[in-house]
Amino acid sequence: MTNRNTSYFCFLSLLLANLAFHSTPAAVPAIFVFGDSIVDVGTNNFIPECRGKANFPYYGIDYPGSTKVVRMKEQIQQFSTVCGNLTEILGAEAAADMLSKSLFLISAGGNDLFEYQLNMSKKDPNLPEAQEMLRIISSTYQIHLRSLYDLGARRFGIVGVAPIGCCPLERALGTGECNKEMNGLAQAFFNATEILLLNLTSQVQDMKYSLGNLYEITSEVLDNPQAGGFKEAQTGCCGNGSYNAESACNIGAKLCPNRREYVFWDAIHPTERAAKLAARALFGGGAKYATPVNFSRLIGD
Ligand SMILES: *[C@@H]1O[C@H](CO)[C@@H](O)[C@H](O)[C@H]1NC(C)=O
Ligand SMILES: *[C@@H]1O[C@H](CO)[C@@H](O)[C@H](O)[C@H]1NC(C)=O
Ligand SMILES: *[C@@H]1O[C@H](CO)[C@@H](O)[C@H](O)[C@H]1NC(C)=O
Ligand SMILES: *[C@@H]1O[C@H](CO)[C@@H](O)[C@H](O)[C@H]1NC(C)=O
Ligand SMILES: *[C@@H]1O[C@H](CO)[C@@H](O)[C@H](O)[C@H]1NC(C)=O
Ligand SMILES: *[C@@H]1O[C@H](CO)[C@@H](O)[C@H](O)[C@H]1NC(C)=O
Repeated sequence: MTNRNTSYFCFLSLLLANLAFHSTPAAVPAIFVFGDSIVDVGTNNFIPECRGKANFPYYGIDYPGSTKVVRMKEQIQQFSTVCGNLTEILGAEAAADMLSKSLFLISAGGNDLFEYQLNMSKKDPNLPEAQEMLRIISSTYQIHLRSLYDLGARRFGIVGVAPIGCCPLERALGTGECNKEMNGLAQAFFNATEILLLNLTSQVQDMKYSLGNLYEITSEVLDNPQAGGFKEAQTGCCGNGSYNAESACNIGAKLCPNRREYVFWDAIHPTERAAKLAARALFGGGAKYATPVNFSRLIGD
């Protein structure tokens, strides 16, 4: 893979599509999406300087969109312009009302952990440098969430990091097993996110959130793929080399005949079917999948 640290693009974007599909029009006036490729629907193809695009086949094979990575800070800057425009069009009060009822879907952290992996030879989440990295990324995350709150966001649907140590890329880089340290970092990041959300909600009024445990949801699928109707939970559907994780999913790559049987689409991202399962769990699942309420409750109340 080229550009590994920008390549966490894509496919829970379908998560967004699915959430939008499940929510009744009355429930949320809008869904605003921030973060990495897990929730991207291709809007950033319009940003010339963006490096992490996936606007080439076989991406989008089932879905006419594609993907990117732009830093959250820049996304929030763009959103701030959108807020200005909304205020201009609707008036301050109606704009604030609309924003406060909208769902802010946010996925972040995975790319930071991949970057940390590139930076560091040891990834044990208990090491002081790992603790320090987690402290920095979670305090930065808190600052970004606060910025969104200050712009009028009130309902936050936060998606945690999946067990990225089990993605085809990590298997190919290692011995074929899941990378336990990367999984440990993903869990530690979830814990840190839980703490920062408690901290943030204690400082502001009327903020509601649902923290999705993508780690738990994905682990259950990986532990028992057959239960979800999957036949392959290690190799990506599209790519080449070991675990189909050693080259990009482009027009020359190998493409599996039945992607519905695969958990992973490429070296890092889930297939549409896997994303749909995750979306359902976040939206309507119990406390182990989303806490303190599920996404449906978040937008419903
Ligand atoms: C939004 O506002 C910015 C400046 O505030 C302006 O440049 C832009 O054209 C506006 N966009 C729309 C869609 O009105
Ligand atoms: C990785 O190293 C770069 C360059 O030193 C640094 O800017 C970045 O913050 C590091 N990232 C992580 C997640 O440790
Ligand atoms: C995360 O928190 C749970 C309990 O809330 C704990 O059991 C687990 O060990 C923690 N994991 C990490 C990696 O910090
Ligand atoms: C809570 O947030 C504030 C910033 O708003 C920060 O200074 C403080 O360290 C945070 N506390 C914890 C426990 O993370
Ligand atoms: C895929 O890998 C095989 C060898 O395993 C090689 O012959 C083939 O050229 C590769 N295809 C692409 C598109 O990289
Ligand atoms: C998810 O939220 C819905 C809507 O509030 C609720 O009816 C349902 O019980 C929740 N699901 C679980 C499994 O807790």
